[in-house]
Amino acid sequence: KRTGGVTMAPQNKQTLAFVFLAVRLTNGDVSYSIPEEMKRGSVIGNIAKDLGLDLDRLSARKARIDTEDNGVKYCGLNLNTGDLLVQERMDREGLCAKKASCVVKQELVLENPLELHRINIRVQDINDNSPQFGAETIKFEIRESADKGARFLLDEAHDGDIGENAVQSYSLHQKEWKKYCELVLDKELDREDKKEMMLLLTALDGGSPQRSGTVVIHVTVLDANDNAPVFSQSVYKASLPENSPLDTLVITVSATDADEGINSEVTYLFDGDQWKQVFSLNSKTGEVRVAAAIDYEKESSYEMQISAKDGLGLPSYATLIIDIIDVNDNAPVIHVKSLTNPIPENVSPGTEVGIINVQDRDSEKNRQVRCSLQQGVPFKLVPSIKNYYSVVSTGQLDREVVSDYNITITATDEGSPPLSSSKSLHLSVADINDNPPVFEEESYSAYVSENNKAGSTLCSVTARDPDWRQNGTVIYSLLAAEVNGAPVSSYVSVNGDTGVIHAVRSFDYEQLRSFKVQLMARDNGSPPLSSTVVIHVTCWMLMIMHQCSVSLSIKPVCLKTLL
Ligand SMILES: *[C@@H]1O[C@H](CO)[C@@H](O)[C@H](O)[C@H]1NC(C)=O
Ligand SMILES: *[C@@H]1O[C@H](CO)[C@@H](O)[C@H](O)[C@H]1NC(C)=O
Repeated sequence: KRTGGVTMAPQNKQTLAFVFLAVRLTNGDVSYSIPEEMKRGSVIGNIAKDLGLDLDRLSARKARIDTEDNGVKYCGLNLNTGDLLVQERMDREGLCAKKASCVVKQELVLENPLELHRINIRVQDINDNSPQFGAETIKFEIRESADKGARFLLDEAHDGDIGENAVQSYSLHQKEWKKYCELVLDKELDREDKKEMMLLLTALDGGSPQRSGTVVIHVTVLDANDNAPVFSQSVYKASLPENSPLDTLVITVSATDADEGINSEVTYLFDGDQWKQVFSLNSKTGEVRVAAAIDYEKESSYEMQISAKDGLGLPSYATLIIDIIDVNDNAPVIHVKSLTNPIPENVSPGTEVGIINVQDRDSEKNRQVRCSLQQGVPFKLVPSIKNYYSVVSTGQLDREVVSDYNITITATDEGSPPLSSSKSLHLSVADINDNPPVFEEESYSAYVSENNKAGSTLCSVTARDPDWRQNGTVIYSLLAAEVNGAPVSSYVSVNGDTGVIHAVRSFDYEQLRSFKVQLMARDNGSPPLSSTVVIHVTCWMLMIMHQCSVSLSIKPVCLKTLL
């Protein structure tokens, strides 16, 4: 077979153009090895010599270079010297790209006789290309949650050359590593600290001299929801007067989230449902407002948890304490705990007749209560333990003078403005049989004409008793006595109910000029009280009867004794 040959290895790529070794082939095939990019006209080898051709006959035999299939003629022939010359640029990258072996095939044709020699020109790579990245900058995104040691493949650099002349290594920040173009995370990223980074990546080939290409890596650190919202305070305190109108702004809570986008959108919520009835929390603005009637007396302080969540639900919590400020909205209330009613009129001054208690639902000053009882009644209030007072009589009572009292007790708190309330107690005074019946006159005189009719009215007396009912009911009676040796009752009688005195018999002036009758008035009390009075009865002779009878018949009362 007509193959084989020795390929000359270049010793120095710079000076190679003129240093070759060619091998003569018995059967006319020849191979050369040359560096790419040799100048036009450079000598590849002396093909005449290599093939043992007669120099003088080259022209005559129309020696020429040809190609199969009318391809590009890369070589030319110097017919005078027999040198094979470079005629067209031989760019290894253009001819063979990444192929490890790059052979250009040409043919030497001679005529007379026809002779055909194959010429194989092995085109060697020289380091004429620098590593190149696809773009000037590589945009690259890494999520901040990436772990240390994470690897990220980058677009590789390309180098038209092959072998050692191709990309051998990369360097970044003085660090160099082989082959793989990947970015390794040496340290965790924090977007909130540094959002972007510019890195200069260099790709190096192994040629001599070495060539390099660079690219800027623009790393954007993407947000990971690695920050929970943070409240501006861990405990919020607010105070709110009770009875504040609905929708009153109590406080605004606020939390911020260092992340971005949805990761930083904070939503506020009450942690638990029980506060929603009383307060509203705006989930966007963090405003806490009054949503129901606030009554200090029901609840004097509220403590609640508020959560702030970011878009992906990472929560944080704060405490909100709302102290309710008391407003003087409750008047004191007076309770009657006990009452002696009616009160006997004979109670001694200083007797406790009732107990009252005063309550005020407010607090502090607003629940301090002063209590008073109106002037002009024989009662006073005596403070006792806590908010208790005794109602005590201050003087002697007399039912016959004042039989009942309306007592007004007023309680006033010390709020500003103060509130007060009052209560009326109706006290009746109960009767005691403390008054005896009293005759209207100290003594009476009655005049009667002799020969009067038995049963005629002598006169009438009245005793008064101001006590109540039977204690004031008067009953009249004669006190037993003797007149002229006979009982007084045989002379006169008295109507027990009316006090009318009647003659029991006819009187005789000659026997009886005058006599005394003692009358008692007694009440119906128990024990009864009584008093007595004396009635002087004088008998007139018939001749002056007219005077007497006139006066008696017109006015049958006993006359006031003038003596
Ligand atoms: C007490 O009050 C009642 C009803 O308010 C009234 O009828 C009565 O006359 C009053 N009594 C006195 C002594 O003021
Ligand atoms: C009369 O007085 C007595 C005490 O002396 C008393 O107990 C009684 O209740 C009184 N009667 C009336 C009707 O007030």
